[in-house]
Amino acid sequence: MSKTITFKVQPGGRLQGEARVPGDKSISHRSIMLGALAEGVTHVKGFLEAEDALATLQAFRDMGVQIDGPVNGELTIHGVGKHGLKAPEKELYLGNSGTSMRLLSGLLAGQPFNSVLTGDKSLSGRPMKRVTEPLAAMGADIKTTEKGTAPLHITGKAGQLTGIDYVMPMASAQVKSCLLLAGMYAQGETSVTEPAPTRDHTERMLAGFSYPVKQQGSKVSINSDGYLKAADIDVPSDISSAAFFLVGASIAPGSDLLLRHVGINPTRTGVIDILKLMGARIEVLNERVVGGEPVADLHVVYSPLKGIEIPEALVPLAIDEFPVLFIAAACAEGQTRLTGAEELRVKESDRIQVMADGLQILGINAQPTADGMIIQGGPIGGGEVISHGDHRIAMSFSIAGLRAATPITIHDCENVNTSFPEFKDLVKSLGLDLVCGEM
Ligand code: S3P
Repeated sequence: MSKTITFKVQPGGRLQGEARVPGDKSISHRSIMLGALAEGVTHVKGFLEAEDALATLQAFRDMGVQIDGPVNGELTIHGVGKHGLKAPEKELYLGNSGTSMRLLSGLLAGQPFNSVLTGDKSLSGRPMKRVTEPLAAMGADIKTTEKGTAPLHITGKAGQLTGIDYVMPMASAQVKSCLLLAGMYAQGETSVTEPAPTRDHTERMLAGFSYPVKQQGSKVSINSDGYLKAADIDVPSDISSAAFFLVGASIAPGSDLLLRHVGINPTRTGVIDILKLMGARIEVLNERVVGGEPVADLHVVYSPLKGIEIPEALVPLAIDEFPVLFIAAACAEGQTRLTGAEELRVKESDRIQVMADGLQILGINAQPTADGMIIQGGPIGGGEVISHGDHRIAMSFSIAGLRAATPITIHDCENVNTSFPEFKDLVKSLGLDLVCGEM
């Protein structure tokens, strides 16, 4: 049986100093995918060396792409061109990574070979019909389980896909990106309209690789006429990883932290906007554009927070940050209410239920609702919580330790390695007393 990891945090502390958190997960996945399909050699720096992005990397090696590295976040991808992937000899195992599975399903639907996509227990429970249904409308042949989950058995339909004009029922960058990748192999135009803005890294990177993408308001369109020209990529730090420190420094008196080179793409900065509405003191410094993505240094100091009604328009822009925003809400004065976030129920865990359960164990009045949570700020106690194998839950409850009265033990933390293997060492060096144990 594989080992389970437990984090134990001692109460109190503050976060002080400077840090550069690891590379953006979404951009790292896409750098492999587009670099592999490009003509020429792509150099990547700042690549996230964590399990999710490495699962994407391995999948492309399994399809015959030569990728050197990563060494200190640097990679060289020897692109095989849009039609150069080879049939994998075995199933492609994607671990915990929803992004890998959903984006690859679109890309593989139009290849001249068959493939099978599998994942771990969490990924095998996540909804895949949101991609397989629109792909089927394009002519793809993808079989799921009866429940609409992985494994995905893909029969490649090279030359047989047709573009669709798809209006997404939910705000999902994974679904949008999946269909854009399929659209690179479909006859005619493939368009996706989103109900609210979602992360646009795929569109930006396609443009960076000289592939034509048309954006008209909330509708993005692509066709199969283009090709990808290799381009170097500098991956910024992941704002979703920075979020733990933005919240940690905001809630722990005496904190003063500088986070360097963080990606501040406007489709990702909901966490800054929400924290500022709560009274956080976050300064965005040295704004610049690196490889088509906006980047800045973020300076955050402690500030007392107040409860708010979270504007629904910010939900897709902060979708991965709610676990740690719930910790901010628990430390705020008054009530915080989140609505319009039912997507949280189908992430790596049911993040509404799992966070509400853990907060209640810590003595916080947290009421889960169908599409969000109502949290009454108050003193955080201590105790034992379970992350349910969800990396962001494990890191969020670690951060809660900064304001806890007694130690917090967090079980099931091994999946922190999917997005942020350095978390425990970094948070410790900045001032949280965290000890990691194996069982
Ligand atoms: C991601 C999109 C989001 C996000 C996930 C990464 C991506 O998922 O939660 O962590 O890289 O496209 P949805 O698009 O399903 O909301």
